[in-house]
Parts: sequence; structure tokens; C-alpha cells
Amino acid sequence: MHNEAWIFGYGSLIWNPGFAFTWRKTGYIRGWARRFYQGSTDHRGVPGAPGRVVTLVAEAEAVCWGVAYGVTERSLDSVLAYLDQREQGGFQRRWMPFYSGASEPSGKVCVYIAAGDNPEYLGPAPVSAIARQIRHATGPSGSNAEYLTRLADSLRALGVKDRHVFELERQVCRLGPSDGTGEPEL
Ligand code: BEZ
Repeated sequence: MHNEAWIFGYGSLIWNPGFAFTWRKTGYIRGWARRFYQGSTDHRGVPGAPGRVVTLVAEAEAVCWGVAYGVTERSLDSVLAYLDQREQGGFQRRWMPFYSGASEPSGKVCVYIAAGDNPEYLGPAPVSAIARQIRHATGPSGSNAEYLTRLADSLRALGVKDRHVFELERQVCRLGPSDGTGEPEL
């Protein structure tokens, strides 16, 4: 795989990369857990009523499954510029080893992570509170509940189990449809 760079998707990039790629492979990164801890005021919420999207938090024993995309070296700069613009709400790039099953990494992937010190970061909260927030929030890219459903469906399609995501999906489903205002109901 010469003259290629790899981009890792663990959130919306799984179902919506938005750029041309030469191959796609399921695999994981080590030491990071996927969590709905990042606030979204530009995609799945609005200022004053943020939604929540996934970021990664460091956790020694964790693995985070997702997909790696191969992009040509020639297109890398434009792909990164596109993703920097799309994920400008607190996300920054990091490069880390990617595993596709073998114990040795198959290469390094570029990963977008929103760290705990960015202004949109919301951090941990009880699952029931995160579920209520996701149920109500909506933004320019659509409802926060749709984001959660698409993520859960995409993980199932990859054969990946993620307790945090699936428990949120269960709780949001149990709450039923939102009234669509983006505001908590009284
Ligand atoms: C992803 O799908 O990997 C992703 C998540 C958050 C921001 C950018 C990309």
C-alpha cells in the first residue's frame, strides 16, 4: 500500500466519509473508547441546545472498532482540508496505529479526536441524561437521534458490539419520538 494514507472513522465517517477512497477496511485502534461526550452546535444541535456526538477518550484497555479508508497521497491534503472544515467543532487530528486483526498494527491512521479541553466538550453524564439530550437535539445535519441510529446500525453492519452506543440507542428508543422543537418537553 505505497503512496497511500489512511483515515480512520469511528463516528459519522463510517456511514458518510464524503471523500473518494481506494479501499475500506474494518479494524480498530487501541487505548481509546468511543463516547458521546462531544457537544455539537454545528451538525446535530445548535448554540444553546447542543446535541452530542462521539469522540474518543483515553482508556488503557479499550479498543475502538471502526473503518480505515485508503486515500491516495495526492488527494490527502484536500481530504484533510475537507474533514478539518467539516469537523471544525473541536476536533483535532492524531495519527495512531491501526489493527485489522493481527497483533501487529497494519499501519498508521489519521483520527479526529475532540479532547476534553475544547470549548464544545460536554463530557460524561448519566446515560439517561445523555439519552434525553440526544432525543431532543437537532441541527443543520439532522436530528441527534438519527445520528445515533445511523451509528448503531453501521456498527451492527460491521459486526461490532459497543455497549455505550447500544444502551443509548435502547434508551432513546424507549423515550419515543421527540416533539421536534429541540427543547426538553415540560
Ligand atoms: C469519525 O467518524 O471518525 C469522526 C468522528 C468525529 C469527528 C470526525 C470524524
